[in-house]
Amino acid sequence: MTIPLKNKEGIARMREACAIAATVLDQLKPLVRPGITTQDLEEAGRDWIARLGARSACYGYQHGSRRYPAHTCISVNDEVVHGIPSFRRVLRDGDIVSLDIVVEHDGYIGDNAFTVPVGSISSEVGKLLRVTREALDLGIKQAQVGNRIGDISAAVQAHVEANGFSVVRDMVGHGVGVSMHEPPEIPNFGRKGTGDKIKPGMTLAIEPMVNLGGYKTKTLSDGWTVVAADGSPSAHFEHTVLTTDHGPEILTIPRPVAAQVSS
Ligand code: MF3
Ligand code: CO
Repeated sequence: MTIPLKNKEGIARMREACAIAATVLDQLKPLVRPGITTQDLEEAGRDWIARLGARSACYGYQHGSRRYPAHTCISVNDEVVHGIPSFRRVLRDGDIVSLDIVVEHDGYIGDNAFTVPVGSISSEVGKLLRVTREALDLGIKQAQVGNRIGDISAAVQAHVEANGFSVVRDMVGHGVGVSMHEPPEIPNFGRKGTGDKIKPGMTLAIEPMVNLGGYKTKTLSDGWTVVAADGSPSAHFEHTVLTTDHGPEILTIPRPVAAQVSS
């Protein structure tokens, strides 16, 4: 499958969708604290997406015969991705929570995610978050015109494994644009110098998913929630990145939002 290249118009629309996705994610971060439920985060995310004039690309997303039932993906502790928000899931001190926001605006999609601590977390889990975030940065740095997709994969994997963690293999990053998942696949493991050549105008969702224990995952009976098979904590950081002749540009940067005027 050929990788879609975005023209000027497509890039402008990608910028807008990605800025919205990032702004929603940014607005959710300060809400994370012990005692709130993942449904509280869902409702705040749903409302911000609407306020910013976009649509959740997750809500109703079809996989096999199932449709995803929420506007956000909220994954706690050993949940890797696609956690379904619930009013029964109360966040506790020492938890970690991954927030994944995918929005569609004006026909284009922005995708981003991060994992945040709830209260104070152990130093080992703190390191998991730091290393996963660093692996994303190192992967993005490889998204250079003339490089190959495998250069991104190899950079992520090397950093994660050098720190004693493992990269999830069952899910991968992806091109993103008019669809949530476009070619190419961007695994978080692989070999330098392999895969498609990077050209200007690609929009790539680079998203290391990293387990503190083994890389294996399983899907819960709800049909969506992917968990670490060994129950170990898992982190996820994701940006949508535009490739250009002067290097990668992160598109999922939040936009300042005017303070809510009350009364
Ligand atoms: N960022 C996730 C992905 O790329 C979002 C999936 S939305 C869901 O797969 F509907 F599948 F949950
Ligand atoms: Co994604």
